[in-house]
Amino acid sequence: MKTEFRHEPLSQLATSALVVYCFEEAPASSGTVERLPAETRSLLNPLQAAGELTGKVFECTLLRSPAGLAASRLLVVGAGKRDKFSPSHLRHLVGTAVRHLRSRGVRELAWVLGPTEPGAVATITEGAVVADYDPDVYRTERNDDKRIATFLLVAGGEALSAEAADALERGRVLGEAENFTRELVNEPANRLTPTRLAERAREMAARFNLKCEVLGPQEIQELKMGAFWAVAQGSPQEPAQLIVVHYSPENAPEQPLIGLIGKGITFDSGGISIKPSENMHEMKTDMAGGATMLGVMQAIAQLKPHVRVAALIPATENMPSGNAYKPGDVITSMSGKTVEILNTDAEGRLVLADALTYAKQLGCTVLIDAATLTGAVMVALGNLTTGVFGWNKEWVGRVLAAANAAGEKMWQMPVDDDYRELYKSVIADLANTGGRYGGAITGAMFIGEFAGDTPWVHLDIAGTRWANDEKPYRAKGPTGHGVRTLVQLLMDVPT
Ligand code: BES
Ligand code: MN
Ligand code: ZN
Repeated sequence: MKTEFRHEPLSQLATSALVVYCFEEAPASSGTVERLPAETRSLLNPLQAAGELTGKVFECTLLRSPAGLAASRLLVVGAGKRDKFSPSHLRHLVGTAVRHLRSRGVRELAWVLGPTEPGAVATITEGAVVADYDPDVYRTERNDDKRIATFLLVAGGEALSAEAADALERGRVLGEAENFTRELVNEPANRLTPTRLAERAREMAARFNLKCEVLGPQEIQELKMGAFWAVAQGSPQEPAQLIVVHYSPENAPEQPLIGLIGKGITFDSGGISIKPSENMHEMKTDMAGGATMLGVMQAIAQLKPHVRVAALIPATENMPSGNAYKPGDVITSMSGKTVEILNTDAEGRLVLADALTYAKQLGCTVLIDAATLTGAVMVALGNLTTGVFGWNKEWVGRVLAAANAAGEKMWQMPVDDDYRELYKSVIADLANTGGRYGGAITGAMFIGEFAGDTPWVHLDIAGTRWANDEKPYRAKGPTGHGVRTLVQLLMDVPT
């Protein structure tokens, strides 16, 4: 999608579709409708009178060859009640326009900026880019012509500030990074194996001038990553990969070095503690944490925050086989801590344990992990909110503030020493499960045991990785949830 500013007066802009929005309180004379020439606005009065234009949220009213405009079409999007308006809302309105027009074969649209909106330029552009994503990549009759080729932002005769130009670029970069994450999460496990995920990471890194290293099975074993290897050993045909991507801007201080650790299970069958077959196909998305971190790296490579970042993605399948690890096994993690395996389906915390230990060895001074870790977090928070865990008030606070600024729903969950009882083992230092109740908390705290004194924040994205329903502004399927928050966080890190 090409994104650009246009400066000519609204009436003179020749485009396939000019887009404005209006509020319920006054559909024909509110929002950016007010920026239209009087002649065009007068077309809307009878529609309002007839109840065809109500301003209800996401209502789309399309007029052909509207009087007073050089545009071939005018699309009026309902913005709902004025007092509910917010940046997230604006993102959704743009997305709704994109998807409505696309589905009608329109390939160019011009979004009319409100008089006070230059600050929203990034949000608007990002909203357009993420709305243009579709998951049906393997449909033989997928119609790529139905995607938006050109997205114009129309300031209505006003000159473009340097700030607005930056914001346009920032929105595009962020939207494309989210779509990259979604593309990876969407890939089936037969096509996105650990090896292929590593290749995708390498390609991204090469394209955006990042350093990428990939460790294979032999190195994983040599580093004594017994927890990661326990999971990986069940899948000898698809060798495990530890993907490490570095963003090291010149002149950035040595510290902090932020470690972003993403769970990279390309398929989670549960292993010997096998999952029920219903919905097992969804476990192709169990590398969403890793995909999130790759999206974040792609974005920061272009947005260039003044801070060092390393992304680490332990990638493997979790499969039952003659080689697979078994309930009752005791393994020794890279940290030296021993773990009794009570359930081979609690594999995420194992691969993350060793990845955290390795991140510390690489010099990371802050650890942030994202993982589709537990079904329990979905019970607690549903599909809309990511669970945030950690002992370090400062960094948990930063993540929550970044989520708020980025418009992603995240909520702090507790960690507390009293829960440690739940994952004690009679035979080893730790057990890999803490039982049914409080499962998201004990899962998170297990990972935290390997962070030690290093500030650590855990994001459980099991619920938010995937949207089960289609919305007017986005497709059903992978969401890319978490990318915006982490990019925001890194842009704001004080150095
Ligand atoms: N990948 C799953 C968690 C998950 C479930 C993600 C549903 C997305 C949707 C994870 O590896 C898992 O199986 N967790 C177990 C842990 C339990 C065995 C302690 C769970 O949540 O049931
Ligand atoms: Mn599992
Ligand atoms: Zn899993």
